[in-house]
Amino acid sequence: MATTTRPQLVKGSRAARTTIALKLLMAVSGLLFIGFVLGHMYGNLKAFSGEEAFNEYAHHLRELGEPMLPHEGFLWIMRVGLIVAVIVHIACAAILAARAAKARPVKYVAKKNRGSSISSRTMRWGGVTILVFLVWHLLNFTIVKVNPSNGETGDPDGSAYGLLVDTFDLWWMTVLYLLAMVALALHLHHGTFSSLQTLGFTNSATSRARARAAGWVVAIVVAGGFSLVPLSVLVGIIEK
Ligand code: HEM
Repeated sequence: MATTTRPQLVKGSRAARTTIALKLLMAVSGLLFIGFVLGHMYGNLKAFSGEEAFNEYAHHLRELGEPMLPHEGFLWIMRVGLIVAVIVHIACAAILAARAAKARPVKYVAKKNRGSSISSRTMRWGGVTILVFLVWHLLNFTIVKVNPSNGETGDPDGSAYGLLVDTFDLWWMTVLYLLAMVALALHLHHGTFSSLQTLGFTNSATSRARARAAGWVVAIVVAGGFSLVPLSVLVGIIEK
């Protein structure tokens, strides 16, 4: 009897330990993203200071850390960090989802949706939506620099501001970005709470309430702040 239960216990606790490790990795990589989107959103607001200020900001990003770092050195450290974080975040999510499905092969229909928020129920599809958005976003602004308003690629006038205004002068591009920001807000709302929970910051009713509030603040500040620029271009507050 003892010989059959002992190995199972050891196996079970190892699975529990790796589940905790996976959740910790998700939380830490998620917090890294929050730091990035906060900084990126803040940087985008430079568009309100005009063409020169925005282009200068984009230029400074490439010079950050010089001469200690090579040109674009800081940007590349950030890019590599983000790529690693994306891979870790998605891989952990996939492994945890597979484990949850294995633990409960038959769906628990009766309790489905009870007491859960829309943001917690849309984490998986929200994450996929953000990933698809990110691919389009990088093609649009960084890798190919697609200018959808005149079908050009490349960056003929070398201006980050010009591409920004041309992009959001198109109503459908603004709508596309705003929809992505809704997905981002939902993901950040639950993700912030969830990562604080994993890190042990929700052990009392007060700390749970604080973690929930933090989820709302991060979601509204980031998605709201990002939405300001496309909306302002569309209504003509930001223009060339
Ligand atoms: C309305 C929302 C957004 C706007 C207007 C915007 C605008 C921009 C612009 C103009 C650039 C090019 C910057 C440059 O080359 O100097 C850029 C780059 C980038 N954006 Fe966004 N962005 C938005 C949302 C997001 C979100 C939500 C994410 C992440 C989920 C994101 C991730 C990135 C990344 C990874 C880069 C590339 C940075 C690099 O490696 O050079 N952006 N964005």
